[in-house]
Amino acid sequence: MEHNIFPIHGQTLTRQDREHLLRQRGMMIWFTGLSGSGKSTIAIGVERELYQRGVLCMILDGDNIRAGINSNLGFSVADRTENIRRIAEVGKLFVQTGVVTLACFVSPTNAIRAMARDIIGEADFLEVYVSTPIEECERRDVKGLYARARRGEVKEFTGISSPFEAPERPALSLDTSVLPLQESVRLIVDMVMRQTEKGKTTNMTE
Ligand code: ADX
Repeated sequence: MEHNIFPIHGQTLTRQDREHLLRQRGMMIWFTGLSGSGKSTIAIGVERELYQRGVLCMILDGDNIRAGINSNLGFSVADRTENIRRIAEVGKLFVQTGVVTLACFVSPTNAIRAMARDIIGEADFLEVYVSTPIEECERRDVKGLYARARRGEVKEFTGISSPFEAPERPALSLDTSVLPLQESVRLIVDMVMRQTEKGKTTNMTE
């Protein structure tokens, strides 16, 4: 296929320029876990805490992505893959702008998360598994979707009629049925600060 796309090199500012301007390091915190496990709640807490410390974040979740850019996608394997591919590509742009990006998506399989990692790049990708057991997610059932899935009204529902594979080596694993919210937030904020320090020692050039 002929693309006729010609990237302009050497004229735009670099990621390093943007990170210097913001005085922070861009990175992707990728939250994976069942619906209702607490991904977005933790991300909101992290964003607030980092805001207090002068760090700019952006949360990508179902509210702003599935309602907008991905409103044409459903929950088949093909659509979930395309959902995550677009999110990873958009997320990469945020990371390259120097923003601490918090992506909260079920992203149910190792293959789908490996794709996200490949797009964003290993060095900028930190995986957080929100490992709250399905019994607790279903007990919360904030959106009433588990009940509907049990009645067969929602097809291919993750954890009920569609698989969820636990990540093999997440940077952090947080079970919100036993860990208080503030503790989850603290663990992630500490991880972001450590990653930022690592960026400084390599002169933020990645
Ligand atoms: S993903 O599998 O493609 O990563 P994503 O995180 O974007 O999923 O969307 C999951 C959210 O959509 C859930 O939290 C839930 O509110 C809603 N949802 C609606 N239908 C389904 C379904 N069949 N499976 C999982 N989540 C669903």
